[in-house]
Amino acid sequence: MIIATNWKAYVESKEKAKKLFALAKRLASHSTHEFIISPPMPFLGFLADKNHSKVSFMAQDISSTVGGAKTGEITSAVAREAGATYALIGHSERRAIGEDNTLITQKLQHALAQGLKPILCIGERERDVDGEYLAFLREEIASVYATLSQKERLQIIIAYEPIWAIGKTSTESITVTDLTEMILYIRKVLSDFLSGRGASCTPVLYGGSVDTDNARALAEGSGIDGFLIGRAGVELDSFSELVRAL
Ligand code: PGA
Repeated sequence: MIIATNWKAYVESKEKAKKLFALAKRLASHSTHEFIISPPMPFLGFLADKNHSKVSFMAQDISSTVGGAKTGEITSAVAREAGATYALIGHSERRAIGEDNTLITQKLQHALAQGLKPILCIGERERDVDGEYLAFLREEIASVYATLSQKERLQIIIAYEPIWAIGKTSTESITVTDLTEMILYIRKVLSDFLSGRGASCTPVLYGGSVDTDNARALAEGSGIDGFLIGRAGVELDSFSELVRAL
């Protein structure tokens, strides 16, 4: 499985970043899971510089532009140079501050152009009885995939993160039954854009209040390929317990 942690802005000291990285390295060295961590970019730079471990690095976001007169932007080229091999794109916390599908597609294209593997976040804000959230999810996928070539589409990892389940407790997270249904639905939508075994080979991760209490059941029952973990991935105890539970 892929175990990706989204550090967000939770980690604001070098000391803590170093400790979390050391833990991830230790866990990865005894595990068949693939570990991906996403420190804030300056921390990513110095941790990745000395990295000879199995842990990979992910930029939490990248710019929708290339380099030049763009104050404050972290381009995909910079993220790659700093040591990232993955880029998280379209997280709901970025969408909440105005990122739309057009901008997200641009980011994705820049990531791919630099050889970064994009993890594209999708997820509905809420559920409705008429199933409109399904059309919403389809559109989040379709608007991005429609502009890409088959080869580019095959590089994408999907992270399904229903917004209503993010930052809550495991009891308020998704159920195994609902997640199983959603993973099937996402793969069905993907099959409209990917030929052959493309849709079944696309890794689909789940994120939203994953912790020690629900990780195992969600991993075993739902057909996901891994997790994108926020809060439970930025404390040493909760992260090691979660990985042990898997
Ligand atoms: P959470 O965050 O695990 O704290 O719910 C997940 C995410 O936002 O990626």
